[in-house]
Amino acid sequence: MENILGYKIIENKKIAKDVFKMMLEGDTSQITNPGQFINIELEGFYLRRPISICDYDDKTITVIYKVVGNGTDFMSNLKPGKVLNILTGLGNGFDINCDGDNPLLIGGGVGTPPMYNLCKKLLNAGKKPIVVLGFNTEEDVFSEKEFIDLGVDVYISTVDGSYGTKGFVTDIIKNLNGYSYFYACGPMPMLKALAVYAEEHGMEAQISLEERMACGIGACLGCICKTKEKDHHTNVNNTRICKDGPVFDAKEVVFA
Ligand code: FES
Repeated sequence: MENILGYKIIENKKIAKDVFKMMLEGDTSQITNPGQFINIELEGFYLRRPISICDYDDKTITVIYKVVGNGTDFMSNLKPGKVLNILTGLGNGFDINCDGDNPLLIGGGVGTPPMYNLCKKLLNAGKKPIVVLGFNTEEDVFSEKEFIDLGVDVYISTVDGSYGTKGFVTDIIKNLNGYSYFYACGPMPMLKALAVYAEEHGMEAQISLEERMACGIGACLGCICKTKEKDHHTNVNNTRICKDGPVFDAKEVVFA
């Protein structure tokens, strides 16, 4: 279900290089799963900005976003008290019913935020998630403490080795044991590497492809992704990430 309402900014602060955390107050009744997203209207911008939900409760939504252009730059300068028009309850989100007790949660850069509420939901379901986060360099790292405060083990990689393990998330997960399922969100090359890893190791994986979204409302067709199965509406091997995803079974996605 989708719901357009006004949401008041409670907090909007920088937490890493070009990365901001915004907390909004308003109706959250349409949000049903971790990994869903919201679509924010910004004054003076034609298209809304789709941003994944980091966390939510019965009256607040928290998002973490990166400044990558004029819209997100404008957003980063908004002050508490400002009311934004937001569409909530978008996307399918993650299914928390997974095999095994120790699912791996893998976030790459700004693919990290949706892992936070997912981690909480899995903990509530009696699972013991392991969190692996990948960034380019130390000044990009965020959310490590928040995950540690949930009581889970957190492993971090940076490409340049300035923080945590040098390399990529795959350099960490190949040395971890005891997991049989993973959830991931991040850049496409990371998701592709993880989908290959899952297949080679006979594991199930859910991946969120939100990086590819532009309008987030099914209007621009900028989020098309190839799938192995034909779409039952269109009978072609394409799907719109914003409407049918952003979360997919890793086995279903055809990577470029
Ligand atoms: Fe525009 Fe999906 S992001 S159609």
